[in-house]
Amino acid sequence: MPRRLIVGNWKMHKTATEAAAIVQQLMKLVPEPGNVEVVLAPPFTALQAAGQAMPIPHPFILAAQNLFWEDQGPFTGEISAPMIKELGCQYVILGHSERRQHFGDHDEGINRKIRAALRHRLRPILCVGESLGDREGGRTETVVTGQLLRCLDGISKDELRMITIAYEPVWAIGTGRPASPAQAAAVHKTLRATLASSWGPEACKPVRILYGGSVTPENAGEFLVSDQVDGALVGGACLDPQSFAKMIGLAQNVAG
Ligand code: PGA
Repeated sequence: MPRRLIVGNWKMHKTATEAAAIVQQLMKLVPEPGNVEVVLAPPFTALQAAGQAMPIPHPFILAAQNLFWEDQGPFTGEISAPMIKELGCQYVILGHSERRQHFGDHDEGINRKIRAALRHRLRPILCVGESLGDREGGRTETVVTGQLLRCLDGISKDELRMITIAYEPVWAIGTGRPASPAQAAAVHKTLRATLASSWGPEACKPVRILYGGSVTPENAGEFLVSDQVDGALVGGACLDPQSFAKMIGLAQNVAG
């Protein structure tokens, strides 16, 4: 099984100064991430401060929460792959449902963003997930596999190993109502089967599938024990260093 991954998606929270303080607290609480890969995704404006708060080599890996597919140009307000790469990012979260909902991100654009990330050797964390209406209407599988295949269209077998998937049911994000571990495992299985039928079982082995949506220290263990779940994408509960450290600890225990 690939190394487990715990990602903290800070969303639009924390200034650069606050971010540095959080990273310092986290380093005290988690002196050694060990067998777990820990990724922090603060806002763009806090990436540099978060990086500078850590010794080199960084114990925690930096991720951006988005990027634009062009490298430079007249795109007011946008941030490109080389810009976040220079700040030390190794990962980038793409296709988050909040971006789809509030900023018009769509599968074709997300595909272009994934290609831009790969061109610059950034590892995309692609988010997919169904709405409550989709789930209640029995469309979960169709929706998530459709998003997966459209967003990864044209990606080679070689590039696939750079990809991480996060299954995040829209109805579970920020609601305090997570999917059940069984619901998550079922969707992860479907996603894995879809990857395997398009790229072959060998090529999709290194692809990790995370669960996200109201993950907390109280429920994280139930997801992480599943052999279908390679880690978690944590929003709200990652902003408190104590609770984020607890979830990293749970992943360390499961990874053994
Ligand atoms: P949440 O967010 O943990 O606050 O539900 C998860 C996410 O949006 O990635």
